[in-house]
Amino acid sequence: MKYDIAVLAGDYIGPEVMKAALEVLAKLSDEKDSFGFHEALVGGSAIDATGKALPAETLKTAEGAHAILFGSVGGPKWEHLPPAEQPERASLLPLRKHFSLYANLRPAIIYKELKEASPLRADIVGDGLDILILRELTGDVYFGEPKLRRGEGANEEALDTMIYKRYEIERIAHLAFQSARLRRKIVHSIDKANVLTSMVFWREVVTQVAKEYPDVTLHHQYVDNAAMQLIRWPSQFDVVLCPNMFGDILSDEASQITGSIGMLASASLGEQNKWGRDGLQFGLYEPAGGTAPDIAGKGIANPIAQILSAALLLRYSLKLEDKAVRIENAVKSAIAAGARTRDLTADSAKAISTAEMTQEIVKRL
Ligand code: NAD
Ligand code: IPM
Ligand code: MN
Repeated sequence: MKYDIAVLAGDYIGPEVMKAALEVLAKLSDEKDSFGFHEALVGGSAIDATGKALPAETLKTAEGAHAILFGSVGGPKWEHLPPAEQPERASLLPLRKHFSLYANLRPAIIYKELKEASPLRADIVGDGLDILILRELTGDVYFGEPKLRRGEGANEEALDTMIYKRYEIERIAHLAFQSARLRRKIVHSIDKANVLTSMVFWREVVTQVAKEYPDVTLHHQYVDNAAMQLIRWPSQFDVVLCPNMFGDILSDEASQITGSIGMLASASLGEQNKWGRDGLQFGLYEPAGGTAPDIAGKGIANPIAQILSAALLLRYSLKLEDKAVRIENAVKSAIAAGARTRDLTADSAKAISTAEMTQEIVKRL
């Protein structure tokens, strides 16, 4: 079958790491499964070219595809724009909302071959770690109604509302327990129920959903404690169920435990078959990290998060599990052979470029 992939590379390192992921996918293309890449502008580069961060044509390309492979958007070049027009808020968040991509899976895995890149002590890392951060993605303070009240001098104020509806918590909680059933059967639900009413509600609803999964152990943890526990005792975690903003923060923290933000891939999924073509599951796949303006244009960005995002696309949207595993094994094998981009090694003399890392992976596919 020929699969259509909308390719939205975005800004700064976005196109550099996207190139790597497309090389990997192209290498996996064969007579049985081939990939059509449909490139479209998004983010700051789309603003520069068309005046809009999410042009209608880009949305059309995305709607017509089996899945979206996304790079990342935003950066200093567009920070002078009014907040609502900046690339992050005017392209990525609307895309997530448009396709109802409420579930963001961020697998934080310490490969045993990469243990020395983790800042944690060897006795804490043990034989490696495998944590699934499951982040709710279309609710919370990200999508509450923001307000700005100008013109009252010292009383001027800005506010964002943290809001969750019951069904939004229920559907992500079900997914957390179902995911845990295929793993170590432990869910940590993260909240701030000691202070925030929306989080008291989150805890209440998660507890109710948990009754349907008596075989899964549920722990509640306050987000401040969770931030500390991730470093103190990361192996306690299996599935970490997070509201949108806490999941954003904890996933960056978890990524550094695995060695670098440049390793953390993600899959954003919605209701089964709502946008899916040919009975497949639509999704958007992107690195958890950003556009890394500080290293853009130097050819040194780590392409692995983007490459592993492509693997997740094959797994969850195209149901090509064998090919997803081939990518993951090629990444592990390249790492085991000592391939390190600059973010993964203290010894910069040993660091290889984005293109070299990509070749190390492609040749092992
Ligand atoms: P960032 O993740 O872009 O960078 C943080 C640090 O991590 C930097 O030092 C960067 O060099 C490093 N880093 C990130 N990815 C890397 C990679 N693949 N290889 C090597 N090093 C890497 O976070 P930031 O600096 O806070 O944000 C920069 C811009 O990216 C902002 O405009 C932000 O809003 C945007 N952003 C976009 C997305 C997205 O589109 N999905 C996600 C996060 C941040
Ligand atoms: C992420 C990013 C985005 C988020 C920003 C760029 C809107 O940080 O995907 O983690 O906060 O969700
Ligand atoms: Mn983030």
